[in-house]
Amino acid sequence: MKIGVIGLGYWGPNLVRNFLALKDVTKVTACDQKEERLTNIKEKFPSVELTGSSDHLLRGDSDAIVIATPVDTHYIFARKALENGKHVWVEKPFTSTSEEAEELLNIAEKNNLRIFVDHTFIYNGSVKKMKELVEKGELGNILYFDSTRINLGLFQRDVNVVWDLAPHDLSIMMYLLNHYKVKAISTSGIANYNGKENLAHINVFFDNNCFAHFHVNWLSPVKMRLMIVGGDKKMLVYDDMQNFEKIKVYDSGIDYKSAESIYEALVQYRIGDMFSPKINQTEALTLAAKEFIASINENRNPLTSGIEGLEIVKILEACDKSIKKMGELVELNTPVYY
Ligand SMILES: NC(=O)c1ccc[n+]([C@@H]2O[C@H](COP(=O)([O-])OP(=O)(O)OC[C@H]3O[C@@H](n4cnc5c(N)ncnc54)[C@H](O)[C@@H]3O)[C@@H](O)[C@H]2O)c1
Repeated sequence: MKIGVIGLGYWGPNLVRNFLALKDVTKVTACDQKEERLTNIKEKFPSVELTGSSDHLLRGDSDAIVIATPVDTHYIFARKALENGKHVWVEKPFTSTSEEAEELLNIAEKNNLRIFVDHTFIYNGSVKKMKELVEKGELGNILYFDSTRINLGLFQRDVNVVWDLAPHDLSIMMYLLNHYKVKAISTSGIANYNGKENLAHINVFFDNNCFAHFHVNWLSPVKMRLMIVGGDKKMLVYDDMQNFEKIKVYDSGIDYKSAESIYEALVQYRIGDMFSPKINQTEALTLAAKEFIASINENRNPLTSGIEGLEIVKILEACDKSIKKMGELVELNTPVYY
């Protein structure tokens, strides 16, 4: 399989490295409009063919095109690639609008081509372990999902912090709670500098009394990647900043009894053991790249396809709508596919 990668800024070189390492990949061609990014790749990966022209790449001999350019260019590159009969890998978030995502899905379906959206965390060992625990019923019914993804982040030119960071949390949420339905969203955010929100709080309401909250922020002095999944049996804490014991499962919670009289205690606390499961350390991008190639070889949708990508774009659009109205509730009816 021949792979073309467009966009060699921060993320693109990781994609080049991972595709080069796959035995199914016979050739990688890489493209960037900046000479300095091409030189960087030449030095690190001398076997990669280079071009400064996206048209040349999109019309060339690659079987699949990997798009790692800014979000507002995803649609146009993906469309051209699909129209030229190539499978596409698109970085998160899939597109800037749900109309664009739907159009790409239609073109891909008509031409029997695959669309992979890089929701990298779905291939992360910690997230896979969380999914396993949720599916085994270890946590019981999931009551809430609470996540903090903050640091002194890179202000993006074309998207706000919600579109930049929240796709990670939203994809994890959808993966873990794939039998739940999102009913409504409310989001508050603030744009302190360039008109794009740099801090936001996203509330997600499900149709079954489950609730999720995400705090995303590019303007925090400390870096936190912390997620809590609260179940009625056990609760889980995922701290991606830790080198070891990233996941801790607490046998803690409450036993709630309806009171006979208002003077009786309603709640009994349960504080039990904690355990930290072993996590597979394989790099998520390696597994993601393998899944993309396998989906092409097996003529099937990848685990993280354009369909999930579209649902996440719909939630991001709802967040923007809500932010404009200072946190007003926006109704949605998002099925979960993973
Ligand atoms: N999956 C993840 O965990 C993850 C992490 C970081 C970034 N991303 C995504 O990857 C994408 C790129 O992000 P980044 O941080 O690497 O951005 P970046 O700005 O560092 O790099 C983008 C590169 O694209 C190049 N480019 C832009 N327009 C081009 C054109 N017309 N022709 C050729 N090259 C062009 C730029 O020169 C630049 O080198 C974004 O969609 C981002 O959301 C994903």
